Amino acid sequence: MQEIRNFIAQNRGRFEQELFELLRIPSVSNNPDHKADMEQCARALAQGMEGMGLKKVSVHPTKGHPIVTGEWMGAEGKPTVLIYGHYDVQPEDPIEEWESPPFEPTVREGQVYARGSVDDKGQFYTHFKAIEAYLRVKHSLPVNVKLVIEGEEEIGSENLRGFIKIHRESLKADYILISDTPMFGRGMPSLCYGLRGLAYMEVEVKGPSRDLHSGSFGGAVANPANVLARIISALVDDNGRVTIPGFYDDVIPLTDQERKEFASLPLDEAAYQKELGVPSLSGERGFTTLERVWARPTLDVNGIMGGFTGEGAKTIIPASAKAKISMRLVPNQDSDKIAEGFEAHVKKLCPPTVTITIQRHHGGNPFLAPLDNPGIQAAGRALEKGFEKRPVFIREGGSIPIVATFDEILGKPCILMGFGLPDENSHAPNEKMDLDNFYRGILSSAHFLQELAES
Ligand code: BES
Ligand code: ZN
Repeated sequence: MQEIRNFIAQNRGRFEQELFELLRIPSVSNNPDHKADMEQCARALAQGMEGMGLKKVSVHPTKGHPIVTGEWMGAEGKPTVLIYGHYDVQPEDPIEEWESPPFEPTVREGQVYARGSVDDKGQFYTHFKAIEAYLRVKHSLPVNVKLVIEGEEEIGSENLRGFIKIHRESLKADYILISDTPMFGRGMPSLCYGLRGLAYMEVEVKGPSRDLHSGSFGGAVANPANVLARIISALVDDNGRVTIPGFYDDVIPLTDQERKEFASLPLDEAAYQKELGVPSLSGERGFTTLERVWARPTLDVNGIMGGFTGEGAKTIIPASAKAKISMRLVPNQDSDKIAEGFEAHVKKLCPPTVTITIQRHHGGNPFLAPLDNPGIQAAGRALEKGFEKRPVFIREGGSIPIVATFDEILGKPCILMGFGLPDENSHAPNEKMDLDNFYRGILSSAHFLQELAES
């Protein structure tokens, strides 16, 4: 192992430069203008896989963006680990808030600033470099590996789902490893054993056939924006509970043990509040902040549109109003079932004075891993060696839609060994990744492969 660690230490600078090359490609999945960039990024990854000595490297076209796969299956009799990551990134807007351009990786104080740095290029790339280290130094890996890097995570992983179903035999693995989550804090290597799921809806309320003069017509017809606001406000009660009938039916309640463990983690609520810039924290009554974001379902408006939003005042009754509303789900809620409940409830809340349409966007089911899984235990030992610190066990509030699919189709829980930090601005301006965590991530990944071989 020392030889491998030395190789990683000696090549640290080159590894960073190679990561920066990837970060220069604006692989924004939700925007058709970036289709060519997505293809370029997929090709770059395939080239990287070939360069490091993986076999059967291939770029699979899909109805959306390509999936890149490769493998090394030379460790006979040893377990196989499937490593998943995503090369797509979120849009860069609002561009004017970036201190350096989003697709020109810039290092400041040991952090690389770029869209996709932590979510997820800098995270999954740690595994590329750990594999490369083994293949260059030892010309072999301690275990078999299969890599699957997709380009549609940020838009719901629709095409990957079908891909996994079709290729379930060739994707078979003993362990599944993903690095796409934050650590609890700086210097606190973390293993994440739970993720929330998602149901994402769009609601449009339509009133008159056109915007109306609010003096001539105000009072005579229902205002779609007012109606939408009333519907939204009825969806969550004063205790922060979602009012959709049956919404909580399938929620697995937190155990006393888990609540104790959450409470033992050092969350400084005052600093958390200050960092977020809010006058006070807020959420479902009866739960702590960590419980609220990790293990309780929520309903939030992501955006609201309609009527006059320009400078100054304009007096109208808008023809329509729209909102994008998402629900984060916890084990054992089902995304489709929750979406159906939402539709039925919102239709019921809507008065007959307007018309309403409800559209479903992508979703994903929540995930909870058994902590005694030998892969998770091996990852714990690997993190301890990579970071020289005992890892903590955490859950997270975000979603990786494919995790539940892996569990369902391949029958294996994912090992979520993330190298991000909670303040690294994923999905926001000035996204960054700590380069020391990138380095320690590579070490941890190398140790993980070794630990699996020995376990
Ligand atoms: N890396 C995140 C997932 C994540 C974020 C896990 C924070 C834990 C904490 C991932 O890239 C992501 O953003 N997922 C989306 C999924 C959605 C678009 C289906 C999310 O959570 O919003
Ligand atoms: Zn993301």
